[in-house]
Amino acid sequence: MNGLQFDPEVSRQMETMYTTPDVIEQRRVVRTALALRPGDRVLDVGVGPGLLAEEMAAEVGPSGRICGIDISDSMLAIASARADVPGGPGIELELASADRIPHASESFDVVVSTQVFEYIDDVPSALNEVRRVLRPAGRVVLLDTDWGSVVWRSTDDVRMGRVLTAFEDHLADPHLPRTLAGVLDKSGFTVTHRQVVPILNAGYDQHTYSSGLIDIVGDFVPGHGEVTAEEAQAWADDLRSLGAGYFFSLNRYLFVASAL
Ligand SMILES: C[S@@+](CC[C@H](N)C(=O)[O-])C[C@H]1O[C@@H](n2cnc3c(N)ncnc32)[C@H](O)[C@@H]1O
Repeated sequence: MNGLQFDPEVSRQMETMYTTPDVIEQRRVVRTALALRPGDRVLDVGVGPGLLAEEMAAEVGPSGRICGIDISDSMLAIASARADVPGGPGIELELASADRIPHASESFDVVVSTQVFEYIDDVPSALNEVRRVLRPAGRVVLLDTDWGSVVWRSTDDVRMGRVLTAFEDHLADPHLPRTLAGVLDKSGFTVTHRQVVPILNAGYDQHTYSSGLIDIVGDFVPGHGEVTAEEAQAWADDLRSLGAGYFFSLNRYLFVASAL
């Protein structure tokens, strides 16, 4: 499996998708679950374009701390443009992976990671690192997609099935939410809250999450699961031609857990 590369082009595409109303609303739900207070010290694992980090910096204020790590240089370059938040601490960004967090033990009150753990091969070892850097009774908030939840209207359901199966290659675990509570439990966390966070796009609109996803999927799937470039193009053209009859939905799942 060759996973999704967060290169400069994909990173810019993701930044655009993450400024749509769909993902702005998702961040609002995540921030409600985070319930940050002034002075909180927060680590964002897989900080990506830094949109959540920027919002969190305004919430923790100048006495707080916001750190972000990511394995993608291009994502960190985008995030660095958001690092100076008026009324917040500067966002501290570092190139690092979740399974080797470059911070001292017990240095954070909260760790958050949205749309990242599904890309990680060894989730238990990343959770061990998260637990190490959290203070006792600190909490972690994770949000991941179950790609089995996708409902996407197409005029060719067989092709849609082939494309979605091929797209599952972009992740380490496309169904992580189904097992994540058990892994958290085994890693020394107590799950205190679970929630579904759905996205629904009815009627084709370019300024939606799924419009951007058509580009990401269409670029990724050729060569995976025997999907050809022509088939991927026909798949994308079909969706965009549905106009008012376009329909997309998927579920993300949010977990809040506290470190014992
Ligand atoms: C889908 S993006 C989500 C970005 C951000 N968390 C958000 O929700 O806006 C996934 C991000 O996770 C990063 N990532 C993937 N594997 C990682 C790992 N092992 N450690 C840290 N970051 C990782 C990618 O580089 C990318 O920036």
